[in-house]
Amino acid sequence: MNVPHFMLKEIHQQPDVIRHQLDRTISIGIPDRINILACGTSLNAGLIGQFLFEQIAQIPTQVRSSSESLSAPLLETPNTITIAITQSGETADTIAALQQVQSKRVAITNGIDSTITRFADHTIYTNAGEEKSVAATKTFTSQIVLFYKLAFQIAHENQKLSDREFASHLESLKQIPQQMEKLLNENTIVELAQTLKETRDLIILGSGINTAIAVEGALKLKEATYTHAEGYAAGEFLHGPIALLDAEIPTLAIVTEDDSRIQKTIDRIRAHGNHVIEITAKSVPELFSPFLAVVALQLLAYHLATLRGIDVDRPRNIAKYLTT
Ligand code: F6R
Repeated sequence: MNVPHFMLKEIHQQPDVIRHQLDRTISIGIPDRINILACGTSLNAGLIGQFLFEQIAQIPTQVRSSSESLSAPLLETPNTITIAITQSGETADTIAALQQVQSKRVAITNGIDSTITRFADHTIYTNAGEEKSVAATKTFTSQIVLFYKLAFQIAHENQKLSDREFASHLESLKQIPQQMEKLLNENTIVELAQTLKETRDLIILGSGINTAIAVEGALKLKEATYTHAEGYAAGEFLHGPIALLDAEIPTLAIVTEDDSRIQKTIDRIRAHGNHVIEITAKSVPELFSPFLAVVALQLLAYHLATLRGIDVDRPRNIAKYLTT
């Protein structure tokens, strides 16, 4: 595919990145607790992991920013597994945080033979191929697809998912690349970017598993487009932050087929005369909707950045990862 920027190329590689993970069987046993350490986009992938490990596999799971865990380590039990997730495998805080851990250490990384692998008992590669754009896109998708596979595997071994449910969940994952390709071929996000060209502040709402996607979408918009974007859980947004809204601040809401909870917040925002744009991910069950919602927000960040003349592959002030 001939595209002008690595970010767009890498966004379009995501269906294949998922396809390559589908036939893998990965297992980390059945821990009684999972701790996740990461930074930035990998931390947002960790939030998806937490949701899946808790809601599907029913394993208590905590996520902490690697830098925070250096002064406030997560509690460990003898049968805890700590997962350090880092696309580069070179993020200094994540490496240091993993080194502090006493429990079994698993690294999830895209960096073959990267430094993190030296401090892990077990490494799972995300196999997304090199990501050149500073903004992480396909590596995020490769991380979350692994979390889906791990959570389903633990839940199956743990008897929280029957053989039938396990097979049906894996089948739903198989449908994702095709659904993503459909979205990648649509023009609606380019049109949305045009309407937001002058927007300096933006709210993104999700609920359930898509709260993490709202936060990740806001991170993509901040780093690629310099928009002040904030991601919130829809219900929580009503408890104060809604006071921010005026005619200048639009809200994007991730709406899924099975999720009526977000509607209450959308109705309240509209009742105050403020603008809500719905990002719908209704063609797949809510559990799998993050794959589509995140692509929509990545595309929005990309198109908005290029409309604003930003060098999207090399935004100001940031490096792809921090080694010090
Ligand atoms: C965001 C981005 C950064 C990284 C973060 C962690 O698009 O790229 O936020 O996610 O610096 O990097 P890794 O995953 O290499 O540890």
